Amino acid sequence: MKESVSDFKVGLTFDDVLLVPKFSDVKSRKDADIRTRFSRRIELGIPIASANMDTVTESAMAIALARLGGIGVIHRFLSVEEEVAEVLKVKRSEGVLIEDPITLGPDRTVREAWGLIRERDIGGIVIVDRARRVLGLLTRRDITLEDDLERKVKEVMTPRKDLITAPKGVTLDEAKKTLHANKIEKLPIIDRAGNLVGLITSKDIMKRRQFPSATKDSKGRLRVAAAVGVKGDHMERSRKLLEAGADALVVDIAHGHSVYAIDTVKEIRKELGDVEIVAGNVATAKGALDLVKAGADAVKVGVGSGSICVTRVVTGSGVPQLTAIIESAKGAADSDVPIIGDGGIRNPGDVTKALAAGASSVMIGSLFAGTEESPGPTILRDGVRYKLTRGMASLAATVDRRVREVRSSGPKEDDLIEEIIEENVPEGVEGLIPYKGRADEVVKQLVGGLRSGMSYSGAHTLAELRKNAEFMRITSAGHKESLPHDIQKVV
Ligand code: XMP
Repeated sequence: MKESVSDFKVGLTFDDVLLVPKFSDVKSRKDADIRTRFSRRIELGIPIASANMDTVTESAMAIALARLGGIGVIHRFLSVEEEVAEVLKVKRSEGVLIEDPITLGPDRTVREAWGLIRERDIGGIVIVDRARRVLGLLTRRDITLEDDLERKVKEVMTPRKDLITAPKGVTLDEAKKTLHANKIEKLPIIDRAGNLVGLITSKDIMKRRQFPSATKDSKGRLRVAAAVGVKGDHMERSRKLLEAGADALVVDIAHGHSVYAIDTVKEIRKELGDVEIVAGNVATAKGALDLVKAGADAVKVGVGSGSICVTRVVTGSGVPQLTAIIESAKGAADSDVPIIGDGGIRNPGDVTKALAAGASSVMIGSLFAGTEESPGPTILRDGVRYKLTRGMASLAATVDRRVREVRSSGPKEDDLIEEIIEENVPEGVEGLIPYKGRADEVVKQLVGGLRSGMSYSGAHTLAELRKNAEFMRITSAGHKESLPHDIQKVV
């Protein structure tokens, strides 16, 4: 024992405190400006990211979050090819000009076309020859009623002579007019030689209108981040994810204040240059500072704070999340590196508290795991719908990961599972979470609570929220009073 009990630091979390109401001239919740940064160069319309967990973020969640102004981090418990494919799905989902449209040769079959349409979730394919000269366009409509799946696509496509195209350099307005005038949905863009250089679709133009504050890159594509580890294939993975268009790499390790995380950040910076690197997780000022010094563009904060974590119970290590955020923000204060408060968000008020404490955004796992866009099916139990959520260090996730790693060449699966069960000390759990509908419903609640919370703190912006914040520590009686009490709850 190094110090006496009275010298112990106190760690607090969200439920231990309240924000003291301040004079406010914020007239409407809508006046609260919640724009922020995810990392040094990635701006967000809302301060919310979805966690890199295999029950939370693949392309569907990342697309939903980016449309709303947040960002999703694709988890890394996939093969390199699979993770790249998830990034590509996001990047291809609604750039107004798709620069690298999906194509097929003229002699491929309708069956192959269907495979591609389903796999990539697209409405049509441009048919090109080997030199990428446009030969035609094949849409879902052309093959919906086609019985002969072995027919060649050139026999069922709209051929080049009947196809409406636009020249390279066409403006968005011109493209819109052409789509509208010809009542078509897809406009291949070709150069002088007739080669395919892009595709503009009416669906993407519509979405642009529907989601005006979406998180987009300079080419109008949705932004997405992708997680990488610190060992094995992490450099190859990083390279391929960036080639696919990932906007940030998230170096994902449970104990991020470690030589592994620091060396990986340095290695990525040295090998891959000026890319956006998020690193974590840490829970102290020194942890955040060391990652900043290593070259991180954002620091992810949270050790044992997640709803599915048992790290603190198993290892005895961790810092309550509010204190972790305050301390880490202090550590990064002399840089312009934002802090991401990762884990432990249960209520909208927790988002306000995390941002008031110094986080620039929050990362959310289990709250999103219950939504439509999370990977995996819904489960019906006693008439109630659930989805599964699990810690990435849970036994089930570890078994899945190891089985995947050795599937082709390693020992028999049964032996392997037995070995893992014997050796593994899980630091996460698995559980069911009630189905919550679409992610935008959850986001609406979180953002509504935050805006209202900002008004209580007299804050027009998140910077003002942080400046005005006065936390008051409360007792368990105070916390009890904060919850609905002395009534029979109806809903
Ligand atoms: P919430 O509370 O939003 O937290 O579900 C999500 C975060 O929890 C972390 N995480 C884990 N932590 N053991 C841990 O100690 C695990 O198995 C585990 N899996 C996820 C992670 O930081 C995530 O973003």
